[in-house]
Amino acid sequence: MQHVKVIKMTSEDVNGVFHIEELVHPKHHWSKNSFYNEVANNLASYYCIKDDNNNILAYIGSWQIIEEVHITTLAVHPNFRGLQLAQILLIQVLLNCYKKMVKYVTLEVRESNIPAITLYQKFLFESIGMRKNYYQDNGENAVIMFTQNIWYDTFKNNFNNIKSNINKVAVTYAE
Ligand SMILES: CC(C)(COP(=O)(O)OP(=O)(O)OC[C@H]1O[C@@H](n2cnc3c(N)ncnc32)[C@H](O)[C@@H]1OP(=O)(O)O)[C@@H](O)C(=O)NCCC(=O)NCCS
Repeated sequence: MQHVKVIKMTSEDVNGVFHIEELVHPKHHWSKNSFYNEVANNLASYYCIKDDNNNILAYIGSWQIIEEVHITTLAVHPNFRGLQLAQILLIQVLLNCYKKMVKYVTLEVRESNIPAITLYQKFLFESIGMRKNYYQDNGENAVIMFTQNIWYDTFKNNFNNIKSNINKVAVTYAE
């Protein structure tokens, strides 16, 4: 079974991350500078998944604002989808949330992005509203999704269940 590790993203990872960003969002994507700024920002936590040859396969970013964590970006290299890598990244973010006494996690997602919405629903995120015409490239609406309080048993039990079902790769989480 392939082994992967989750590591905190540094400026040295930006080139590898940007390569996936361009592949996943060919027309409208973050600039390299946005990633450099994010990894230097104390409010932000960015992680990537690397294989044993240090190739970057996926990444996630978030900001903590008091008791809420906002997920800013998440992408998996198209050749490595379906391997539970997105789940592993969300698990990593949630492990940090439990360490930092965060209560809620939120994000915005394109209304048409069924794979991502289904992923978040698996983690019990719920749609709480819509930002109309949020995306500048095509005027698409954003769905605003929130967890319930992540310390509630239903949320935690579901989280632990997902974590224990990661079985397509062997994973080492970040500290
Ligand atoms: C969405 C994305 C992150 C999923 O990554 P992944 O590593 O393939 O996802 P996982 O293997 O961890 O799958 C987790 C869950 O996501 C959902 N999912 C993933 N791909 C899906 C698809 N094509 N259709 C429906 N649901 C899907 C399922 O609930 C799946 O759980 P299951 O296997 O038990 O059904 C990936 O497709 C991607 O990078 N998309 C482009 C970027 C993007 O949309 N990012 C989110 C922005 S908000």
